[in-house]
Amino acid sequence: MWCPRCLTGALGAGSPGAGPWASWSGQGSVQPSVLPADSGRTWYRRWAGQLETPGTAASGPLHCDISPDGRFDCAPEKLLSRAECEARGCCYVPVSPRGPAIWQPWCFFPASYPSYKVENLSATETGYTASLTRTVPTFFPEDIMVLRLDVVFETNGRLHFTLRDPANKRYEVPLETPKARGQITSKLYSVQFSADPFGLMVFRESSGQVLLNTTVAPLFFADQFLQISTSLPSHFISGLGEHLTSLALNVNWTKVTLWNRDIAPTPYVNLYGSHPFYLVVEDGGLAHGVFLLNSNAMDVMLQPSPALTWRTTGGILDFYVFLGPDPKSVVRQYLDVIGYPFMPPYWGLGFHLCRWGYSSTAATRQAVKNMTAAQFPLDVQWNDLDYTDAKRDFTFNKNNFKDYPDMVREFHQSGRRYVMIVDPAISSLGPPGSYKPYDDGLKRGVFIRNATGKPLVGKVSPGPGAGDESVLELKPGDLRGWMKVLKPRAHVPLLWSPPNDMNEPSNFVAGSLDGCPNNKLENPPYVPGVLGGSLRAGTICASSQQYLSSHYNLHSLYGLTEAIASHDALVKVRGKRPFVISRSTFAGHGRFAGHWSGDVRSSWEQLYYSIPEVLLFNLYGVPLVGADVCGFLGDTSEELCVRWTQLGAFYPFMRNHNDHGNKPQEPYAFSPAAQEAMRKALFLRYALMPYLYTLFHKAHSAGETVARPLFLEFPADPNTLSVDRQFMWGAGLLITPVLVAGKTKVSGYFPTETWYNLMAGSVIHSKGQWVLLPAPLDTINVHVRAGHILPLQEPGLTTTESRKKGMTLVVALTVAGVARGDLFWDDGESLLTFEKGDYTQILFLATNVSLVGELGRDAESDILLGVPSPPQRVLANGIPVSNFSYNTDTKVKTPALPASLLLCLF
Ligand code: NOJ
Repeated sequence: MWCPRCLTGALGAGSPGAGPWASWSGQGSVQPSVLPADSGRTWYRRWAGQLETPGTAASGPLHCDISPDGRFDCAPEKLLSRAECEARGCCYVPVSPRGPAIWQPWCFFPASYPSYKVENLSATETGYTASLTRTVPTFFPEDIMVLRLDVVFETNGRLHFTLRDPANKRYEVPLETPKARGQITSKLYSVQFSADPFGLMVFRESSGQVLLNTTVAPLFFADQFLQISTSLPSHFISGLGEHLTSLALNVNWTKVTLWNRDIAPTPYVNLYGSHPFYLVVEDGGLAHGVFLLNSNAMDVMLQPSPALTWRTTGGILDFYVFLGPDPKSVVRQYLDVIGYPFMPPYWGLGFHLCRWGYSSTAATRQAVKNMTAAQFPLDVQWNDLDYTDAKRDFTFNKNNFKDYPDMVREFHQSGRRYVMIVDPAISSLGPPGSYKPYDDGLKRGVFIRNATGKPLVGKVSPGPGAGDESVLELKPGDLRGWMKVLKPRAHVPLLWSPPNDMNEPSNFVAGSLDGCPNNKLENPPYVPGVLGGSLRAGTICASSQQYLSSHYNLHSLYGLTEAIASHDALVKVRGKRPFVISRSTFAGHGRFAGHWSGDVRSSWEQLYYSIPEVLLFNLYGVPLVGADVCGFLGDTSEELCVRWTQLGAFYPFMRNHNDHGNKPQEPYAFSPAAQEAMRKALFLRYALMPYLYTLFHKAHSAGETVARPLFLEFPADPNTLSVDRQFMWGAGLLITPVLVAGKTKVSGYFPTETWYNLMAGSVIHSKGQWVLLPAPLDTINVHVRAGHILPLQEPGLTTTESRKKGMTLVVALTVAGVARGDLFWDDGESLLTFEKGDYTQILFLATNVSLVGELGRDAESDILLGVPSPPQRVLANGIPVSNFSYNTDTKVKTPALPASLLLCLF
């Protein structure tokens, strides 16, 4: 056992002295941006594969004169008194007053706090390997005193390093990651090691910028407490979801907790998903990203020096560093590791309508009828739990839903699709033989087990009919059980897509109906800042057993494994592209499913927060994402619902969903003026669908984002970094919604470029400026970026209908008179069309005299933006178009250009 006093003599608080890497004399940040000449320690240098040992400088004595912003917490698990803190060998300096920075530590590591030291660093074919040894145990139990470090140069832009226990196999996230190493021709990074104490630095090769420097605080690797810190090269950091947050994270002492949780989105609280990935935009617009492949409950601390500390409760430290050098490349490099997004069916991008409270087939049919009567597009009608028999999955209510299969068939016949909500918990109420999914599950042994090996029983469904539930486990790779329940059966109508709800997994009793045992998994020595203060809060016991490991390790993967099983089972059962939407997510989710942002409140604040949520999930490789349009919890208002529908028309996944008991919020429930505004927004979405679908194709095939933050397109413009009240669709469309009550004007940032208002035809020649735009209630501002061609289609009431209609191109010329764009087109629902080559891709290139498409289009009309003077003649394929129009908003309109390959303006 470690004796804290052994160190206190040598490491007493307040000792003078200065190691250059951690000294502070009150003049701001001291994190070196390049390697300090005399680092106060032994450095092993690796520059372009060459090993150097530049020498050893004497370690300075302990001192506590460390910049307040650069202090790393020595008491992460509890508050300590001065005596307790100093007994740990740490510095104790109370911060007064504490103010909003409640995580600023009073007890912090001195510069020379013991850590691991590097032994036997050696070069391998692909990087380096080393042993790390620790001689002094930490204040956490079960330190692993010897570690193995592996550093692998995987590609020019991707570095991979792991720290694991060489003696014992520990839990590792079962995510398939690329095995093959890419060609290394000119790496964007170099690495350097500190020998004692251990540290790893990653540099950007082109600039020498330090991107990662783990020497800033000691490394911990105990059985249930793993911690590593790094400096950050800039204050702009984004990611680490899922949280109710702005796009840019606040580095002023913020604790970000990851542990999937069923809770209505609330600031500073762990939410439904875990994405341990961050992206930093460095000064000057270059970017890098870091992914910690670890699924245990964790905290990530951000502090203003700026620095970041990963603090996780299990697994190994498995890091990927992505060098970009631009933010788009960082995202693609991340997705190279976790997988590119699945290609959704075309209909899935249409409008979805749901509410908890369509209490019968009659009520559900009526909703669809009302939508049609009011001429609103609708592709997918949903039912919430109302359809079930006593809230049991895979059943339906024989009274109110007795003609359920007929209703679903009717929807399909009218070109629509149907979705029902599915929960993961399976009811264990009732005698054997009364509920087949439970009996089958027992036979197949698929339920999560408690400490005694019996199925763990919790409680999920609220309200009458609620029962005790067992939680269904999905064994990765074992799809038979899931397929069995998903297979279209007489009593379960054609199941097109299960939106997987409550899959954090949620539990309304803490742990289980029988409580949880008292063991180290239930009571870890460090509990991250999870809502409720314990790992079991809102979910099942951490020590319950799953197929691969304990729930302690696998908890945050539940939604992902359910998505994989649902996706794969639907592929097998239906043979068509699945459409799975899930509330709970983990890194890699986008390969299989989309996400909705859960139980958002009908408020203006949450309307805004939905933008960073959508943008961040695009960075996480889950582009099919949206919030409940008009809000889920609480009554909406007409104005809010109009503005939300306008914004929602630009969510990649658009569903209006409402809570039980709330006032109706379907588009037809409002005044004629509000309806007209919503209709306009919905038709705009439907018109833009070919462009949206093409963006999804690029996400699927090339790791791009669909909805994207402005900084992805304009990284060198620092004004774009924190813009999250506007966003882009692809590279070509800028959306500026109204997010505030009572406003009919909205201010938007326009990066240096020419921007054409898609609806109004006006033009902004921006020099990188904020512009106040008119935004009456019926208007959402949408601007086309010069240089882009967008494929559009005449909207119908369903995508089935619109796919039969004519297409249009919007061509936005640059000042130099050029534009380009493309269209990906296939049947919209077959599997692997891209992979098999069953698609058409048209590339468009325009100059102010010609527009070239590689294949014919059945164009109803084309719009060219940026044509400087009225053309005298317009030719399509050399044939004059007589009936074109031109207006002073620099727009040319050509009606009905059948199969035009070449559009020429003279
Ligand atoms: C919680 C989900 O987030 C919500 O969308 C759903 O309506 C309810 N569960 C009831 O199923």
